[in-house]
Amino acid sequence: MKYLGLYFSGTGNTKIVCLKAKQELEARGHSLETVDVIKDEVKSLEGYDGLFVFYPIYGFNCPKPVIKYVKKIKKVSNKIPCVIMKQSGEHLFWNNASSLYLTSLLKRRNIVLHNEFHYLMPYSFIFRHTDYMAHKMRTVMEGLLPLDLDLFLKGKDVRMKRFLFDRTFAFVLRIQWWGGRFNGLFYKVKKNECIKCMKCINDCPAHNIRLKENGKFKFGYQCLMCQRCVMYCPKHAIKVGLFNSWRVDKPYTFKEAQFEKESHPRYCRKNYKRYFEESENRIAESKLN
Ligand SMILES: Cc1cc2nc3c(=O)[nH]c(=O)nc-3n(C[C@H](O)[C@H](O)[C@H](O)COP(=O)(O)O)c2cc1C
Ligand code: SF4
Ligand code: SF4
Repeated sequence: MKYLGLYFSGTGNTKIVCLKAKQELEARGHSLETVDVIKDEVKSLEGYDGLFVFYPIYGFNCPKPVIKYVKKIKKVSNKIPCVIMKQSGEHLFWNNASSLYLTSLLKRRNIVLHNEFHYLMPYSFIFRHTDYMAHKMRTVMEGLLPLDLDLFLKGKDVRMKRFLFDRTFAFVLRIQWWGGRFNGLFYKVKKNECIKCMKCINDCPAHNIRLKENGKFKFGYQCLMCQRCVMYCPKHAIKVGLFNSWRVDKPYTFKEAQFEKESHPRYCRKNYKRYFEESENRIAESKLN
């Protein structure tokens, strides 16, 4: 089967999930053509057997670039299935509604949601997980994803439960529709630390950063809050406006590491524990069968 895979990734975690799905589909004799919704042209879905959408959850929502891309997709003549693989820093049910708007847009284009999966990956915002935790999250995602893919390929639909309040949460916290753009105006570059490597300018998916003639950086009104500029600045020179205490300014290597206590050990503790226990049991059981 031939699938198309749309992805948006701020700091790289979603891309890891997308490439894992591609690898697993190819190992099963299928293909996944990946599309970066920022850089690539809008594709027609005619001729594809299904669509995969990969996104990070931002403020309990699907990022705006994915929505914008999907709005440009033309309706397909025959219904095709869709799989959503989203990932985020916590596995709370409030995140379940993040795909509501996206799935309604897809449905209008004859692209019907069959499966929705959610993986835990390290935070790019709020606080930095330890290297130990980042490696654990990725390993578990890599164990779960092939099992989830098999559910889809065998025709077993998996949907997320919706709750009354998660819809309201998702609507109110559409961070990229208001807060991100507003907060983006307050980003600053520490001029004593910046080496003018231009990485932030070249990599910003929203083309929101420019260097003025007077040598000062100007952040515009298009910020997606994706944190790419912050995480990959080699000098940790970017301040995140009103949320500066939430910045994560060092990329994750995902290498195996010694256990280390998290900087926020109580944060989502029960939720993480449940996710790891359930996922590890599922992975172990699949190895027995
Ligand atoms: C602006 C912003 C908002 C976020 N909001 C949420 C959220 O509502 N729920 C959550 O679980 N994670 C949230 N996260 C964490 C990301 O979903 C998580 O770090 C993800 O792995 C980032 O993926 P990426 O590297 O592909 O951008 C947020 C991250 C950012 C930058
Ligand atoms: S990435 Fe950092 S060091 Fe490089 S130009 Fe931007 S702010 Fe300066
Ligand atoms: S300014 Fe930084 S956080 Fe905002 S969209 Fe560009 S890279 Fe992302």
